[in-house]
Amino acid sequence: MKLFQDSTPAKIILFGEHAVVYGQPAIAVPVSDVRAFAEVQIDQTLKAPCIRISDYNIEFSLSDKDPPDKAIHIIKAIHLVAEKTELSYPPSGWRLIIWSQIPTARGLGSSAAISVLLIKILFKLSLTELSLSKLIELSYELEQYHHGRPSGIDNTVISLEKPVFFQKGREIQIIKPQIFYFVIGDTGIGKKTVHVVAEVAERYEKNKKLYDDIFQSIGKIADQGLKALETGDREKLGELMNINQSLLEDIGVSSPELDQLIKVARDEGALGAKLCGAGQGGCMVAVTMSWQKAKSIAESLREAGAKNCFVTVLKGGS
Ligand code: MEV
Repeated sequence: MKLFQDSTPAKIILFGEHAVVYGQPAIAVPVSDVRAFAEVQIDQTLKAPCIRISDYNIEFSLSDKDPPDKAIHIIKAIHLVAEKTELSYPPSGWRLIIWSQIPTARGLGSSAAISVLLIKILFKLSLTELSLSKLIELSYELEQYHHGRPSGIDNTVISLEKPVFFQKGREIQIIKPQIFYFVIGDTGIGKKTVHVVAEVAERYEKNKKLYDDIFQSIGKIADQGLKALETGDREKLGELMNINQSLLEDIGVSSPELDQLIKVARDEGALGAKLCGAGQGGCMVAVTMSWQKAKSIAESLREAGAKNCFVTVLKGGS
């Protein structure tokens, strides 16, 4: 019997990935129509909580000594939440079913979406109130487990489900943008954020001055991006995305497949396009003048080999 359901969105980074890890500002927005879901069911026959990951067709008990590999992250997350909180959810008699539309390791925040979702579910099961600040704090702990050195932007935008201007150590600024249309194209190549961030860190150590300059330039673009979002200047936003992309190429996080999809989007009339997330695979995002244009570019991206395409609208003042 279904007890309750919850969900969390995907995210895209419009400006500032990687630079945000080094203290620069960045802008991320939720993708509300691409989501991770969870449902809690009551099943009194279960002697320990049971988790089903529908996408992998696996089910296991939280008391299993040898859980499936694909379940390790989820079990670890549940244990971490238990360590950090004093939640007391029922010790048996329930099943948690998880499924997700967010492709994994593609820069769309799939791991942060699952982390935020698990925390919300565990608090609900424990009938304990959860503040947004607690959700962000706890999901950051889980992100540290997944990524080692995360900036915190992914779990923040997903927790808030609002566009954010984010800078480490500063108060989070919620953006009130005008309406924007985006198309997201997935190269189909999975890259773990932790690895790409570590490679950038290695290059940074060898060439600090150059990388600091690039990160600062990216930070300035994020500042201008904020204005473009608030004033509804789609052309400016596109131009800034293109500049951000060339700086991301300079730090070595683009890839031939991303370059190809970005070129197709620009050739087909996007106002600007860039990779989003850690890069070296994963997804690109392009801004367009209209919903129809975003749809037609999605078609061209598919023809050019994109494995998934999502068209999404950033709603004015949301
Ligand atoms: C990942 O979505 C964005 C990165 O900047 C890493 C981070 O901010 O933690 C690459």
